[in-house]
Formats: sequence, C-alpha cells, structure tokens
Amino acid sequence: MICGWLLDCFFSPGFGRRGSVNLEEKFKLYLGTENAFSFNSGRSALMAILDSLDIKEGDEVLLQAFTCNSAVNPILERGAKPVFVDIDDTLNLDPVDLQRKITSKSKAVMIQHTFGWPAQIEEIQNITKKQNLYLIEDAAHSLGAKYKGKFCGTFGDAAFFSFGRDKIISSVFGGMAVTTNYAIAQKIVRFREKLDYPSACWISQQLVHPVLMKMQSGANFSLSVLFLGKMLLGIFHKLWILSKAVYKEEKRGEVSSHFPKLMPTALALLAENQFKKAGKVQRTSQRVSSVLSERVNKRFLFAFSQNYRKNKSGFYALSDFNSRKYR
Ligand SMILES: Cc1ncc(COP(=O)(O)O)c(C=O)c1O
Repeated sequence: MICGWLLDCFFSPGFGRRGSVNLEEKFKLYLGTENAFSFNSGRSALMAILDSLDIKEGDEVLLQAFTCNSAVNPILERGAKPVFVDIDDTLNLDPVDLQRKITSKSKAVMIQHTFGWPAQIEEIQNITKKQNLYLIEDAAHSLGAKYKGKFCGTFGDAAFFSFGRDKIISSVFGGMAVTTNYAIAQKIVRFREKLDYPSACWISQQLVHPVLMKMQSGANFSLSVLFLGKMLLGIFHKLWILSKAVYKEEKRGEVSSHFPKLMPTALALLAENQFKKAGKVQRTSQRVSSVLSERVNKRFLFAFSQNYRKNKSGFYALSDFNSRKYR
C-alpha cells in the first residue's frame, strides 16, 4: 500500500492535492492570514502576485538592489521595469532612497526582510499609502521573523515565502503566496487554475537532492579536502540528476519554463514535515547569528556599519523587534 502511495505521489504529482492543501492550512494558521497558495517556488508565487496586482508593461516595481535574480525576473517577464533602490545598514530597502525613486509610473514596492531582519516597515508603509502603491513582501528569508509581534509577510498587500534549498524550511524547491485581500486572493486562484504541475523528471531531481546531499556530507572530510564534493555536484548537474537553484536562462534575466508551476504533493509533504521543525531551525539560526555577529565581526571587520553590528543582526537572524532595542 505504501509502495502504491509512493508511486502515486511520484507519477501523479497532484495526487489528492492533500499535501499542498494541508501545507496551506498550516501556513494560514501559523501566520494568521486568510489565504495561502502553494507553488513550486517563491518565484512562481511572486509571478502569481504580480499578475494579481495587474503589473504590466510600462509599470515600475521598486525593489532593493541587493536581491536575488529570482525576485527580478518575474517583474521583467511582465514587461514591467524593476527600479533598484539602495539598502540601509541592515541590508534592507532604504525608505529615503525609495522616496527619491518613485515616479508617476511606480505601481508597487517590494521589501525583502534580508536574512530574516525586518525592513523599515512602518516608514515604507507610510510612503506606499501616501503614494497609493501596492506593498509586496519578499519573505523568502523571513519565515518566523516578527516586527512588533507581527509576522513578516503579513504587512503588505501580498507576500511570498520560499522553501528553496537554503531557506528556513526547505523542500528543495517550493513557495507560498499569502494575502488577506479577498480580491487579490481571487485573482491568484484564477492564475493558479491555469498552471500545471512540474514534470516527474523535475520532481525526481528535487527528491534525490536531500539524499545525495546527505551522502555527500556523510563523506564530508575526504570529499572537501579533495574538492570532490564540488566536482560531484557539477557532475550531478551535468547529468541532470540534480537541478540547479537558478537556471541558465534565469541568469540572462529570463524566466525558466519550470516556473510558474503548482506545488507537487511530494514536495508539499517534504515542506510540511520541515514546517514542524521550523521552531528548532529558527532557534538555531538565532544562536548562530548571535555567535557570528559577536565573534566574526570582531575578528574580521565585516563591512557592515557600526549600527548593524551593535544590533546583532546576522545571517538568517530571526528577529522580533519588540524584544530588541533597535531604535
Ligand atoms: C530574496 C529572495 N527572493 C526571492 C527568492 C526566490 O525564491 P525561490 O528560489 O523559492 O524561487 C530568493 C531565493 O533565493 C531570495 O533569496
């Protein structure tokens, strides 16, 4: 029976849709949001959000310059113009530069919460409200981070999360769009109705990823000494056993045919299982980030400002601004 279920899961990616629906329900409960829509990646979720906001040719979307190309390509794909805004000391969008870059063509602002550190949300909200712009939250790094007791991803008109291989929780590829706005949610529903599931080949690449990574890290010492780990990874990519996090065409500013797609059941089950461990991952991230900010910064003089160091942010630092004296 288990075998049959596994085969179903694998060859019929939408099998039962139970996996992704469960994941969405858990997300809604956790964030306290009314609508959550799973996709095969954060970038697919962003594509759905841009579509729901009717971002089109000639529109400008303002986002921080220090970002990931997967956050930019969906904007280009719609024929809109990404307008890059400087970052502040916490590596998040600078509201002062944002104000300078707004034009009559501006339609939306996307904030990032880089490495789990919340952006200057209130200042940016004031600007977007005054200028009548949509606010999108790129919460790819910030599952579990809070600003004044409220989860990042619940401040904007819509937000998206990533379950990529290097994120807080990982199903190798996966993402979620969330919104409390009914009209936006309805448009995302319509956008999703037109999508397919990824191919069985793509899903299997993602499923073997954690297995191969585990084997590789098991033989870690000898492999890393001889650079064999990196070589093996290159071979797995060349042989299409594993997929890359960013495809060749995406590096050219194009959208890959692997996106946007629905979240297959097999990956949704992985993400759901990871979600159970999110609290533990978050606590470890906080511990690691405080060690890094205290020890590494002192030793190697990171290029971050005094303000950044003083406030002990760090890589995937999950922060609650109520409990930290930031201002
Ligand atoms: C800041 C940021 N935004 C968006 C994304 C895209 O997420 P995904 O890889 O799930 O498409 C990433 C992924 O690395 C990211 O780091």
